[in-house]
Amino acid sequence: MAEYLQKNKIFNPEGDDSIANRTIIKGNVTGLFNLGDVKYNWAKQMYQVMIGNFWVPEKVSGLQDDAIVYKQGLSPAEQRAYRGIISFLTFLDSLQTVNLPHFSDYITSSEVNLILSIQSYQEAIHSQSYTTILETVVDAKEREEIYYFWRDDKHLLKRNKFIGDIYQRFLDEPNDKNFFAGIIGNFLLESLYFYNGFAFFDTLAYNSKMIATGRMINYIRRDELTHVAIFANILKEIKKEFPEMWDEKLINEMFAEAVKQEIDWTHHILGNDIPGISKDSTVKYTKYLANTRLAMLNMPPLYPDEMSNPYKHLEAMADNNSEKTNFFESTVVNYTQSSSMKGTWDF
Ligand SMILES: [Fe+2]
Ligand SMILES: [Fe+2]
Repeated sequence: MAEYLQKNKIFNPEGDDSIANRTIIKGNVTGLFNLGDVKYNWAKQMYQVMIGNFWVPEKVSGLQDDAIVYKQGLSPAEQRAYRGIISFLTFLDSLQTVNLPHFSDYITSSEVNLILSIQSYQEAIHSQSYTTILETVVDAKEREEIYYFWRDDKHLLKRNKFIGDIYQRFLDEPNDKNFFAGIIGNFLLESLYFYNGFAFFDTLAYNSKMIATGRMINYIRRDELTHVAIFANILKEIKKEFPEMWDEKLINEMFAEAVKQEIDWTHHILGNDIPGISKDSTVKYTKYLANTRLAMLNMPPLYPDEMSNPYKHLEAMADNNSEKTNFFESTVVNYTQSSSMKGTWDF
């Protein structure tokens, strides 16, 4: 049996917090948050960006209008997609809120633990934002059906189980391989699983439908983009400090499976019935996204034929809303509720 990683002790007087001996995992920390001594500068800068991104769903106005549009302006296919996508996104955020501390237990850098705590809190806010949307837009019975859609929809159940199982495997057997797979799972969840759903809401907003929901999604996405960067950076630190754990074959395998599942699910829930989104554009977009995420890990594209975004018009809309985060220039720009501080996330 492979050796298990050691969970951080709550308080470890024999620990050593010095930068010289600090590692992203497998260190021997005291448990004290000495945030003045920073080794991972990207984490410190991301902390500022994440705090600057503070927002609350209750402040997003216009959901009453969405309630009218939902009933009178959406086709049955759009209504079904709206419900199904929110169900999946709610699941992802629930899982992250609860699960991130399990991974944080093995991270031996207080500056990285700090931002993972903020991430957990943001995921809880995202869950609350879906509740805020649903409380206004649909009635109580429909709301319950959306939360528990996976009970009736075998595609969603299979999808949710797949993700849950990756995390559960690490909890049950916290060895190097399961940890690394869990971190890739986090990266895929944050960087790939949300985005066909986001494209759906962007497409509605582009067609002047469900504008308030679209606004809420913009806030959520701004947070999610910082989460993508956190896990990309954790992965890159592991590669640097523990190269024996780095497994590109596993990354590619998990990416290929994630792309397949994301396409299958999106085809199932959107079909070919949403104006502006086709089965073909879903395939292209998902593969394009996977390539950009692999590039963040300095890995070659898995799908060299899909190097451009089929939803360019939506990208432009996001630019106009000034909420877009540019991974490659690594900057964040403001989006209303609070002023976000610019920072460099890559190291
Ligand atoms: Fe989230
Ligand atoms: Fe997230």
